[in-house]
Amino acid sequence: MDRNLSMELVRVTEAAALAAGRWLGKGKKEEADAAATQAMREMFNSISMRGTVVIGEGEMDEAPMLYIGEQLGTCDGIEVDIAVDPLEGTNIVAAGSSNALAIIAVAERGNLLHAPDMYMEKIAVGPESAGKIDINAPVIDNLKAVAKAKNKNIEDLVVAILDRERHKKMIQEIRDSGARIKLMQDGDVAAAINTAFDNTGVDILLGSGGAPEGVIAAAALKSLGGDFQGKLIQQTEEEKIRLNKMGITDFNKVLLMEDIVKGDDVYFAATGVTNGELLKGVHYKGKIGTTHSVVMRAKTGTIRFIEGQHSLEQKR
Ligand code: FBP
Repeated sequence: MDRNLSMELVRVTEAAALAAGRWLGKGKKEEADAAATQAMREMFNSISMRGTVVIGEGEMDEAPMLYIGEQLGTCDGIEVDIAVDPLEGTNIVAAGSSNALAIIAVAERGNLLHAPDMYMEKIAVGPESAGKIDINAPVIDNLKAVAKAKNKNIEDLVVAILDRERHKKMIQEIRDSGARIKLMQDGDVAAAINTAFDNTGVDILLGSGGAPEGVIAAAALKSLGGDFQGKLIQQTEEEKIRLNKMGITDFNKVLLMEDIVKGDDVYFAATGVTNGELLKGVHYKGKIGTTHSVVMRAKTGTIRFIEGQHSLEQKR
């Protein structure tokens, strides 16, 4: 893929973040999501590519835009698969809290897992702990492995985990280990990315969340040299049928990085919508909107942080 794609993708996440940021704290998650989705789609269609949405806002009959299978781009460039999360953390924006992002991952056609909208058990770590994790191992073993890899004591670690009833047992196990915890209301993609940056203070992400978000997090961690493992959690008969259609019959299958994101021709871009540990959220002042983004390419390992000053009058 063309390396100039990085800048094109940042424009797309910037546009989504600028649109969603206006809804900060207004208690309207659907409106925030719709604004991000529309802005993202408009900007996408100015890029020279033949993109197909494989992770999107839902199936064609349930999402008006950025639905799975939608074709994006000017239809004259390279063929790619696209994973989008125009607003990761809809409740976060509605409540005005931290770590909401506008996100895209792009890979060569066929290289992203077409994860259905169901839960995935996840474990994510940064580069130092890559290759040392095992989603089937007890929590304590993973924490010991990460502590050793990072040359820390278990008591120094911070584990990010969504604050959910389903995680009660796991949270107790983490507490029993002595590790510290960052309980999150939402936003496990940001937490997964944060594991790759020491200054965020997050060492490992554990627990279950959305499977599509798992694919997006894995795409980021691939570019960052981190690691990710996932297990789809089949709960209903309908989900079982969907997995069968995907060729997955072993519901305990551990999905390794290469099963989720194949190869290294992968781009990832994210723009902060609300302030987070890694990226600042959108700030507006009169005619100027300021954004903070990160864009990465797995093939080269280049990570760029980009601050954008946008003239809101000239932007359409
Ligand atoms: P949305 O932006 O779609 O609201 O997702 C936010 C999120 O917290 C994800 O980061 C996470 O993977 C998922 O929801 C967890 O789902 P649940 O709220 O059902 O536990």
